Amino acid sequence: MSAATNISAAPPAKGRPVTLSRLAEKKALGEPIVMVTAYDHPSAQVAESAGVDVVLVGDSGAMTVLGYPSTVPVSLDEMLMLARAVRRGLSTPLLVGDLPFGSYERSNEQAIETAQRFVKEAGCDAVKLERGGICAERAAAIVAAGIPVMGHVGLTPQTATALGGYRSQGRTAERALEVARDALALQEAGCFSIVFEAVPSELTEAVAPRLEIPTIGIGAGPATDGQVLVFHDLLGIFDGHAARFVKRYGEVRRAMIAGVAEYARDVRERRYPAPEHGYTMAPDEAARLRELI
Ligand code: KIV
Repeated sequence: MSAATNISAAPPAKGRPVTLSRLAEKKALGEPIVMVTAYDHPSAQVAESAGVDVVLVGDSGAMTVLGYPSTVPVSLDEMLMLARAVRRGLSTPLLVGDLPFGSYERSNEQAIETAQRFVKEAGCDAVKLERGGICAERAAAIVAAGIPVMGHVGLTPQTATALGGYRSQGRTAERALEVARDALALQEAGCFSIVFEAVPSELTEAVAPRLEIPTIGIGAGPATDGQVLVFHDLLGIFDGHAARFVKRYGEVRRAMIAGVAEYARDVRERRYPAPEHGYTMAPDEAARLRELI
């Protein structure tokens, strides 16, 4: 049996689907919300089996699985393809699809149309978009169309160039206030939750308790209601630069390289396949075959 069939053969334990009210309840009870990204069927099954609350098909997949240099180039169709694969491996966590750069900013109509595709074609429960300002208006339009929206403030990678690069945000009181205002605008717009990325802990300590909706941090300190990490970062699958907020819980890439290298050695030194990996014929059939040939 191949590794692939092994993964599929172990169906994840399914729980009650995580709803928006369950997330709100978790905030009220002070129970941390666990969110992780996923980009394909096996990573979705891992997230399901590990019992996380929210799975984000992040546009970080542009870099982690599609090999782009940033999140900017990924297309809507590519994101939908990743999201469909994740949906097929997931039944309990809330599934959020990340609206890619350029797919929602132009108009409320564009934003609604894109969000609807994530729900209709990929089975997402909600969508996420980046930034406040005009994007809060887009969030309000999507919410009015009946689709739950998660906001994202602080370091917003889709517009990292305008922010001066991939660097922490809100480190002066004025800039921190701008991030806080973006978060409030997104709450006003009807977002059910907001991600704070790469901002000082002092900012989330001041803002998170003042927001009614759950806050999720990534490099935002411990004061948010939950945490999110990129699947490939936390498991050590991604080979690129890791931000300081990344904590590695595995060295999967190293294990994968070691596994493939050992396989290559076994093939070259004729240790693989061994007799137990092959099929045999009954001796009389083998004798007949030799005659026929
Ligand atoms: O795309 C992504 O992975 C994200 C998370 C970092 C929140 O937006």
